[in-house]
Formats: sequence, C-alpha cells, structure tokens
Amino acid sequence: PTPTPTHFSTPTPLDSTAPKQPFVIGVSGGTASGKTTVCDMIIQQLHDHRVVLINQDSFYRGLTLEEMKHVHEYNFDHPDAFDTEQLLECVEKLKSGMSVQVPIYDFKTHQRCSDSFRQVNASDVIILEGILVFHDVRVRNLMSMKIFVDTDADVRLARRIRRDTVERGRDINSVLEQYAKFVKPAFDDFVLPSKKYTDVIIPRGGDNHVAIDLIVQHIRTKLGQHDLCKIYPNVYVIQSTFQI
Ligand code: ADP
Ligand code: C5P
Repeated sequence: PTPTPTHFSTPTPLDSTAPKQPFVIGVSGGTASGKTTVCDMIIQQLHDHRVVLINQDSFYRGLTLEEMKHVHEYNFDHPDAFDTEQLLECVEKLKSGMSVQVPIYDFKTHQRCSDSFRQVNASDVIILEGILVFHDVRVRNLMSMKIFVDTDADVRLARRIRRDTVERGRDINSVLEQYAKFVKPAFDDFVLPSKKYTDVIIPRGGDNHVAIDLIVQHIRTKLGQHDLCKIYPNVYVIQSTFQI
C-alpha cells in the first residue's frame, strides 16, 4: 500500500522524557469461555515484552461467617461480589508505573489468603481479565482495547462442570444448581450487555488463532509507536492514512 498523507496535524515534538504509559487490555466473556486461555496465548506471543495479567477473580470479597452458612445462596456472578474500588486502584497504580500487591483468592474456601499477595511490577502491557471487567465505566475507561471472548453456552457449561468438579472442589449438582440460579441469569443481565463496549469479539476463544494473531499484531504496533518515541525524540508527528 502507498501511504497517502491526507492531513497534517500541527507538528508536535514527541517527548522522550514523558513516562511511558502501559497499554491496558480488557478481556471479558462468560464463565469458562476461554478468557484465561486467550490471555495466556497473547502473553506467550508477546514474550519479548513485559506483560502482566490481572484476574478480576483476585478481587472477590471474602465471605463473612454468616454468608458462609448460606453459601449456596450467594451470587458470585453479581457485580457486588467484587471489590471494584480495590481493582480500580490496582489498575490505576499499574498504569501509572507503580508495582502492586494483588490478593490471592481461594475458590474452595471462598476467602482471600490473609497473609500472602502476588507482587505485580510495572510493565508494558496490562491485561485485565474477568466476567465483569467491562461493567464499571471507570474500569472500562482505563482500557485501550477491549476484547470479548464469545463461546457457546453449552460448551462453557460443559467446561465449567469439568473445571469446578476437578479444580474447585464442587460436586456436579451444586455446579448445575449455581449455574441455573445465578451464573446464567447474571450472564444475561450483566455480562452480555457489556459486550457492546468491546472493540473485538473472538468467536471460539483459544481455538481462534487468526483473531489472536491479529490482536497481537495490533498490540505490537501500539508498543512500536512508543519505542519510536524513545529512539527518535526530536521527530515530529505527521498523521496520515494508508490506502489499501
Ligand atoms: P475462563 O478464564 O473464561 O474461565 P479458561 O480459559 O480458564 O476460561 O478455560 C476454562 C476451562 O476450559 C479450562 O479448563 C480450560 O482448560 C478449558 N478450555 C479453554 N479453552 C479451551 C479450548 N479451546 N478447548 C478445550 N478446552 C478449553
Ligand atoms: O474463571 P471464571 O470466569 O469462570 O470465574 C468466574 C466464575 O467463578 C463465576 O461465574 C462464579 O460463579 C464462580 N465463582 C465460584 N465460587 C467462588 C467465586 C466465583 O463458583 N467462590
């Protein structure tokens, strides 16, 4: 393609001393849609950059003793189940180049580990993954790219049954009851409506290698623009569009 400059902005010197802002990506979708798998694939391809993954699950509130007595009545799929203020603070700090301590959540006990945290350092790319990461406008506004992993509900339920019985200490009846009572209604009420905010929808999750390659290419382009600023501090920006 021949680059065709269509308009010129007022020349702006690129400032090499300006702090480099990390590129923040949100990845959402229903339970067991393949969010974590997609994130891992992106991270693997970006091995030459500093990329960190923040899971919204880490910000689940620990249940009180009273809530533990009626755990089957607790809705883990409602936005109120998360400490969104703490999540917001964490991503804001990472975005401004600070390191953070992320809580560690245990799906078997429904509690956070009281004495240990995961140290997450400043990075080039921050990926925030979770069923409701697009629900709160303040969290959404921190993101430069929003991805929705779109996998059929029957595939997700089958994966969830396997995962929750094998890894999260549940029995099949409790998984099915929780799914019908809370998971599916909350998907319809909160997760699906947040799809409209996304930039990219990935059908079939981790099986969709073309979509993941395209996303990685886009991230590389964005990171490359940052690197150019560092290498050529006195270069002026000329905006142009490419005709294909
Ligand atoms: P999420 O983060 O959306 O809950 P995960 O990526 O953790 O989803 O996947 C949920 C479960 O489904 C995991 O056990 C994972 O190994 C499995 N899984 C994810 N993607 C695929 C796939 N494309 N094919 C088969 N199994 C998959
Ligand atoms: O990994 P995934 O996106 O599936 O994690 C979110 C799911 O975890 C929610 O659908 C919620 O029902 C479930 N969950 C749970 N028990 C907890 C916390 C979350 O079953 N203690």
